[in-house]
Amino acid sequence: MRQKLIAGNWKMNGLSEEGLRLAEGIVDRRLRDIEHGGEISRACELLLCPPFTLLAQIRPFLGGTGIALGGQDCHPELSGAHTGDISAAMLMDLGCEYVIVGHSERRQDHGESDDLVRAKANAALQAGLTPIVCIGETESQREQGQTQAVLRSQLEGSLPELDGREAMRLVVAYEPVWAIGTGKSADVQDVTDAHSGIRSYLAECFGSDLAQGVRVLYGGSVKPENAAKLLSLDNVDGALVGGASLKLEDFWAIATSCP
Ligand code: 13P
Repeated sequence: MRQKLIAGNWKMNGLSEEGLRLAEGIVDRRLRDIEHGGEISRACELLLCPPFTLLAQIRPFLGGTGIALGGQDCHPELSGAHTGDISAAMLMDLGCEYVIVGHSERRQDHGESDDLVRAKANAALQAGLTPIVCIGETESQREQGQTQAVLRSQLEGSLPELDGREAMRLVVAYEPVWAIGTGKSADVQDVTDAHSGIRSYLAECFGSDLAQGVRVLYGGSVKPENAAKLLSLDNVDGALVGGASLKLEDFWAIATSCP
């Protein structure tokens, strides 16, 4: 059985004081849960993806908690003359275990192509990180009935080159662009269809047994009110949470919604 992954993508939010307070709050909840038998900790793995600037400061708080740390992006090469960029090897060096690649905000704001996302995911694997590869259709693609075709084409273009036996080292996040930051989450049918399409594609790539090992997260306006419903769906193996991950109570409520 796949353990659920609840990941907080803080995006470009968090100066030291508030960022550390939030991380400390999550650590505190987690430790209290462990003390009381660890029911929530068994139900889900927690991952924090703060901005790069806070990774080194947050890392020491996470020791002994099992809470993982991740970057929000990486360069497709592991080192070199790329002013201002951060490599997957650097994230690994800071104690990260995961990195998000191909988030729609990067695809949009920085014109990132599927090819580039694939190169970043390959670099992540090479450095020893687990890439969280984001895909998702826009509102107009959805209205034109293109969701499944768009997801398939993004998967074809952006998944890393991975031996099937290593498929467990991959996480896919379905984040419909129209649901991100809008308060309007995809409904049960949208999510069910998208996630089963993704699982079928993974089965074509890796065979159905190995495809079962890949976690497929949902992201887009996940909040305490809709988390339990979304997280109980087949093929939904966790959530990639934006806005609600910046509020301790909300993030923790989402984590405690894992069945
Ligand atoms: P929101 O949860 O704010 O909609 O953001 C989702 C997201 O983009 C997570 O990566």
